[in-house]
Amino acid sequence: MAEHLLSVKDLHTSFTTDHGEVHAVNGISFDLDPGKVLGIVGESGSGKSVTAYSIMQILADNGRITGGSVEYKGQDITKWNKNQMAGFRGKCCSIIFQDPMTSLNPVFTIGNQLEEAILLHTKKNRAQAKARAIEMLSLVGVNEPAKRVKQYPYELSGGMRQRVMIAMALACEPDILIADEPTTALDVTIQAQILELMQDLQKKLGMAIIMVTHDLGVIATMCDEIIVMYGGRVCERGTADAIFYEPAHEYTKGLLRSIPSVDRMKERLVPIAGNPINLLNIPAGCAFCTRCEKAMKVCLDHVPLERKVGEDHLASCWLNDLSLQHKAEELSAAGVRREEIRRETGWILEAGEWVFDPVAPGEEGGADLAR
Ligand SMILES: Nc1ncnc2c1ncn2[C@@H]1O[C@H](COP(=O)(O)OP(=O)(O)OP(=O)(O)O)[C@@H](O)[C@H]1O
Ligand code: SF4
Ligand SMILES: [Mg+2]
Repeated sequence: MAEHLLSVKDLHTSFTTDHGEVHAVNGISFDLDPGKVLGIVGESGSGKSVTAYSIMQILADNGRITGGSVEYKGQDITKWNKNQMAGFRGKCCSIIFQDPMTSLNPVFTIGNQLEEAILLHTKKNRAQAKARAIEMLSLVGVNEPAKRVKQYPYELSGGMRQRVMIAMALACEPDILIADEPTTALDVTIQAQILELMQDLQKKLGMAIIMVTHDLGVIATMCDEIIVMYGGRVCERGTADAIFYEPAHEYTKGLLRSIPSVDRMKERLVPIAGNPINLLNIPAGCAFCTRCEKAMKVCLDHVPLERKVGEDHLASCWLNDLSLQHKAEELSAAGVRREEIRRETGWILEAGEWVFDPVAPGEEGGADLAR
């Protein structure tokens, strides 16, 4: 199997609180290859930031990774010590936070902070770091960079501060850039400019990006793959086109109904009904079952399996298994052989009853139904 730049496998992260264990991330898996852009989308509280912080190992003191692995170039970095992780941050992987004011130090100049980041992660001397800081500011579109390096964060506009954050994150040319809601605090015009800048830089520098957002519409055009999260799990993953035009999870469909689009200018936006999931007490079955209008009995007790629903498109919703059964029934009525039907749909007719028994991935002639 080809080695990925980053491979997150069955990651679990929780927080110890006075009320109990908060299960924020419950078995996330995804791969990221060099130069690719992955979008992570979900409502507030779905575990997007905790996933990002778990990768960087910058969780709050009460949080810890309780299971799974994070492989960087084939090595499980959850087993790395503090020194190794300090080397990973900045040099291999950098993060841009939602609010630049929380990550820029108000008492140091922009130049000083940029230089320190460069000195920490590269072999450059002070003069080279100074020159690099100016070069980076100009790269991210900050005007008069030689003057800006002498300014303090409060002297810059929100958009400028976010550009400085991007410059800081990119100063050491990391392989991976995690952008955690990099534009949420900005107004719409500046938001568009920053996203355009990130796309530009991605093409120029060729790093891989993880774009974290609660707003699917904002990032769709720049992502090679999107994963939709709910309750600390992946509901669905696929290309932007697959997610937008053929959503195969009830939560994704709800998310799409809740965002404005030019085509639907006159339609009313429908927020997803119900309360977000209680992470102290996750449902035994589908995390979305308490809010899903189509929930069935099986949804309450069993976690839906991730199924292939199209080319490079997977979803975890029991309705997909049901539609596969309908397809099996149709194929059977059309006279297709039962083994053929099993390979195609995972369903097989046993003594007059449809049984879900997909051909295992290694099994002779197996269909690629399960991930
Ligand atoms: N230190 C902590 N202690 C307890 N719970 C926490 C802690 N940090 C995060 N959580 C919980 O983990 C869950 C997931 O949080 P996370 O910040 O990943 O959400 P998110 O998807 O990034 O949402 P948003 O869009 O609001 O940024 C939330 O319910 C949050 O309250
Ligand atoms: S598995 Fe069930 S509860 Fe979950 S989204 Fe699908 S239909 Fe709804
Ligand atoms: Mg967040």
